[in-house]
Amino acid sequence: MKVKNLASVMAAAVMMLASANAVAKNDLASFHLKMGDCQTCHADGKMKDIKKSITDSETHINAQCKECHGGFADLADKKLKLDPHGSHLGEINCTTCHSGHAKPKLTCNNCHNFKMEMPFADAKAKKKWDGDWDQDKIKKAIARGPVETVDVVVVGGGNAGFNAALSAQVEGAKVLLLEKAPYVGGNSMLAAGGINAVGTPQQKAKGIKDSVNWFIEDTMKGGRYKNDPKLVKILGEQSADAVKWLESLGVNLDDLTRSGGARVQRTHRPHGGASAGPQIMATLNKVAKERGIPVRLNSRVEKIVLNDDKSVAGVVVHGRHSGYNMIAAGSVVLATGGYGMNKQMIAYYRPTFKDMTSSNNVTATGDGILLAKEIGASMTDIDWVQAHPTVGKDSRILISETVRGVGAIMVNTDGQRFVNELTTRDRASDAILKQKGKYAWLVFDKQLVEKKKMIRGYDRLGMLSKGSTIEELAKATGMKDLAKTVADYNKYQAAGKDAAFGREDMPIKFNQPPFYAVKVAPGIHHTMGGVAIDTDANVLNLQSWKMDGLFAAGEVTGGVHGFNRLGGNAIADTVIFGRIAGKNAAKHALKKK
Ligand code: FUM
Repeated sequence: MKVKNLASVMAAAVMMLASANAVAKNDLASFHLKMGDCQTCHADGKMKDIKKSITDSETHINAQCKECHGGFADLADKKLKLDPHGSHLGEINCTTCHSGHAKPKLTCNNCHNFKMEMPFADAKAKKKWDGDWDQDKIKKAIARGPVETVDVVVVGGGNAGFNAALSAQVEGAKVLLLEKAPYVGGNSMLAAGGINAVGTPQQKAKGIKDSVNWFIEDTMKGGRYKNDPKLVKILGEQSADAVKWLESLGVNLDDLTRSGGARVQRTHRPHGGASAGPQIMATLNKVAKERGIPVRLNSRVEKIVLNDDKSVAGVVVHGRHSGYNMIAAGSVVLATGGYGMNKQMIAYYRPTFKDMTSSNNVTATGDGILLAKEIGASMTDIDWVQAHPTVGKDSRILISETVRGVGAIMVNTDGQRFVNELTTRDRASDAILKQKGKYAWLVFDKQLVEKKKMIRGYDRLGMLSKGSTIEELAKATGMKDLAKTVADYNKYQAAGKDAAFGREDMPIKFNQPPFYAVKVAPGIHHTMGGVAIDTDANVLNLQSWKMDGLFAAGEVTGGVHGFNRLGGNAIADTVIFGRIAGKNAAKHALKKK
């Protein structure tokens, strides 16, 4: 029986619980035992086989949940202000939050602070499976030899990883994607802004004059000229093709805006100014499924195994249910993201940021950097960490740079502007840290709410202060000089020249109430440094020689962004170098066969 309505499922649950009078254990599994037996959820009803039948991705159990309860659209509760089943995480496994035999976990609260009650909240705590890397078990797995063989193992299920996997498969390789989290997406899923590209039909339609050279110059300037020019050239030259490729898979990138440090509008994002990352990730995940690429969740790679001649032999993966196993592969692509959520690494590489909040996914713990370092990979700019200027103060929610791109101004606690809002992130962050309280306010009016879907999200999260006049907003936020600042800004906007800070693009005049403000402060956003690669995305060793069979793409690498990444260049990087890495990894593995 397929029950499509959450309310009726819950009502049935309450009735059954009441009639059961006493339940042995207060967890989801015990509750379901009232309706069936272990077979209801598990693939094989024979008790002795049940453990073995649970895959690391928990695919069967989740299919069973959905069989009865329906998908997230069925569970959506329109009356809820915040719907946990309608988030940017996409249609993730039910077991990401709900657990059969243990306490549930509201995954959203890795970043948010929602007060939502979860059923069976008083069950016993879940057993942790992903603690320290167990060197002894790693050694034993290697000694036992591989339990499976593929051509290419992709480590990490974000944008770079999926692009690598799709490209490797196109080349004819047998691919396996391993993701340590119970869901895919990494930081890519949180990417709000969009993808920078030059020479696209979108730019042409808006009459925007741009060139690959300008793209390269802006990226190099933003990176303080510490970027690897060869990698930046590829980024610029292949950017339009990256947009075309994403569109060919079904991603909508119709909208165009400007990010800090770019001289023109070149950040492409979904229609209506929605966040780019969730849409891209949902599409890549869907396409990978359609193309039969195995994506294994709850599977953390803890070792890259080398042959005697130092070529890649495979990886040791620690699966949540399967334990430690070696997988043989001709090539490995590292797409594990950065280390923005690894407090120890931040404290070591960038001590001044050690107490700073982070906009990153909890998955960004630098695994790939540790894996590659351990086998002798070279690192580039490893200590360069970017603080994004506008992370919600006292939260981990990023207020996208594109909010400034479409018109918001940034002011201090007195309501005075203090920097060109469209400068690069490092400069904007430094400027905020010099203000009273080390925070600032972004201020805008109703026009932005209409232009940018994501602002409605900030409102739902209760992050916005409001006023029906500027004076009212000033009073609500204590910004004594706000009215004068806005009046001056409106004059600059009308004259087309920002006499105070030289902001080049002032898309709106502040004249449409209500007026809004959101408190922001710098937060760790991107780790620019990482594994050194060449233009084929081949990882380099300490002598700058190619490491045979090891490739890397995305935030795990260094060199593309120099000392400071421009907004919109991360998605470009992950798509472009993800595809390059996947293609070359496949070619390498197939040649070796
Ligand atoms: O502010 C943002 O929308 C972030 C974009 C990016 O990091 O590329």
